[in-house]
This record gives sequence, structure tokens and C-alpha cells, in this order.
Amino acid sequence: MFALQPSSATDKPSLYGELAQQLAALIAGEADAIANAANMAALLYHGLPDVNWAGFYLAKAGELVLGPFQGKPACIRIALGKGVCGTAAARQQSLVVPDVAAFPGHIACDPDSRSELVVPLLAERRLLGVLDLDSPHRNRFDEADRAGCERLAAIFLAELARHPGALAALSSH
Ligand code: SME
Repeated sequence: MFALQPSSATDKPSLYGELAQQLAALIAGEADAIANAANMAALLYHGLPDVNWAGFYLAKAGELVLGPFQGKPACIRIALGKGVCGTAAARQQSLVVPDVAAFPGHIACDPDSRSELVVPLLAERRLLGVLDLDSPHRNRFDEADRAGCERLAAIFLAELARHPGALAALSSH
């Protein structure tokens, strides 16, 4: 059993440092991409303050399909280039959206969501999916969150890359 440790971090880099250690411990040695994604979603949902949705959309047959997450039920399919998730995926760049109401084409899954951070999951420029975080507060996410979540996404991908076929199992093209 894995016990989530209460954080003593007083700044975002320290908090993401703790989460990075916890994520590495959670997924160490595990080749199952969905199991690791599910545990990572739970870690972020419970470990980050002011987050109402944390999870994955996975690249399948040219679109994004809902993957493991924590939060309210969400829309299932997002076209590349649509919404915050599809835009980050198409650009292969992280997106910090301080106010989702001001983002053209934002897809409202949970009406409580006010700001959003999306980090694409890439293997050699190949899109595997995105990590998506929502907050009920405007301006919740900043560059420290972007950098922290990109670090966590890299840990997630690096573990899968150690197991033959595990990265490929995350998505299907
Ligand atoms: N708001 C996202 C859709 C996914 S939900 O936030 C879980 C978007 O615009 O892509």
C-alpha cells in the first residue's frame, strides 16, 4: 500500500519535487501504462491544491480519448486542434490557460473549471496523449506548475520507456 504523505512544501518547486519522488516510487518497475496513469492522476488530484480534475487524454486513431482521471465525468473524445487539450496536442506544447472563458473553443467538461494546464506526452515528437489539470480558480497555474508537470510527465514516460512495448500500449495510431 502506498500512503500519500502530507506535503510540507512551502513553494511550488518544492511541492513538485516531493510529487516527483512520490510518482517515481509509485510507478517504479511497473510496465502497465494505464495503471501508472491512473496512479499518477490520483497523486496529482490529491497532492495538488485547488484542482478539480486531473487526468489523461490518450491519442487514438487521430483524436484524443479520455483516459485515467480523477474528478467529475468528462467528455470522451477531443479532436486534435480543439479545446485546450486538442490545441496543446496539435502544437506539441504545454498550455497554461489562466481563464478558460477567454480561451476560444474551450471545452467545458466540469462547469466549475476556471483555469487549466495541459502538458503533451511525447515520445520522439510522436504524440501519445496529454496530461490535463483543471482548477476551480482563475490563474491557478503558472510557469512553475508547467515546469513541475512537465517534469512529472517525463518521469511517467521514462518509466514506460524502460519496458518494451509499454509506451506503445498507451496510445494507438
Ligand atoms: N477543458 C478541456 C476538456 C477536458 S476537461 O477539462 C476534463 C479542453 O478544453 O480541452
